[in-house]
Amino acid sequence: MRIDGSTALVTGATGGLGAAIARALAARGASLVLTGRRTEVLEPLAAELGARTIAADLADPADVLRLAAEPVDILVANAGLPGTGAVLDFPVERMDKVLAVNLRAPMVLAKLLATRMVDAGRGQVVLIGSISGKTASPGGAVYSATKFGLRGFAHGMRQDLHGTGVGVSLVQPGFVRDAGMFADAGVALPPGIRTVTPEAVAKGVLRAIERDRAEVDVATAEVRFGGIFGGLFPDVSARVQRRLGGDKVARNLAHGQRGKG
Ligand SMILES: NC(=O)c1ccc[n+]([C@@H]2O[C@H](COP(=O)([O-])OP(=O)(O)OC[C@H]3O[C@@H](n4cnc5c(N)ncnc54)[C@H](OP(=O)(O)O)[C@@H]3O)[C@@H](O)[C@H]2O)c1
Repeated sequence: MRIDGSTALVTGATGGLGAAIARALAARGASLVLTGRRTEVLEPLAAELGARTIAADLADPADVLRLAAEPVDILVANAGLPGTGAVLDFPVERMDKVLAVNLRAPMVLAKLLATRMVDAGRGQVVLIGSISGKTASPGGAVYSATKFGLRGFAHGMRQDLHGTGVGVSLVQPGFVRDAGMFADAGVALPPGIRTVTPEAVAKGVLRAIERDRAEVDVATAEVRFGGIFGGLFPDVSARVQRRLGGDKVARNLAHGQRGKG
């Protein structure tokens, strides 16, 4: 669909990828409604882009409903928590929170906002997944659970809405440098595993909307291959990840991302 002249709600606009996505949508001529919890980050970005803001906590179902009342043509459900850490050490309350923010909130927003988009015969729902929604890694079980779930939801909902004029897209970034939850953790990847930029992810979002793509992976070739391979052969993939030092990366990521959320 055409972005120019549309109104887009971007969740997680205060984060590394959300800010890049918001800037890219604004540059294409969208009017923006930006949301996040940290108003001290949200307000300057909104001022830069001439956007409206709504402070909301996506772990709170009432806040999710408040956001879903916004009349928008495009939803970019981007907010997310890292949810890293070994399952046996993962507090149950934190599991609930990661599920609420990463999976429940995008599903509810997509359902409620798309209902009005279908009435208008026009709209696009973009869910930000991850290559971790195609293959799992040590220390990433809870995060992967939400991203695998989002992938199933996106593809199923897309089929539900076929022929309505409303598309559903899943954008799956690999490791992102410069900004965002991976870059913030300051973790080194094994040799040969490369990263992409937040701007590349934002371009992927534009492509998903403008071409109504079911799935856009924004990752380097080896990460994309890892996603496909891990989905087909989980045990072999686990062995390869261990050989590449995946356990150490997982420990460092969990350490670097502790306290997020
Ligand atoms: N960075 C990567 O390498 C990477 C790779 C693959 C996929 N992704 C996905 O990309 C998306 C954006 O991630 P990012 O890298 O930009 O992370 P980030 O910089 O940590 O930003 C996360 C965003 O989510 C929002 N958020 C977290 N908890 C929230 C809550 N309870 N209520 C409302 N908003 C909440 C944060 O806003 P407040 O703190 O202001 O509430 C922030 O804007 C996520 O879905 C992530 O899973 C990222």
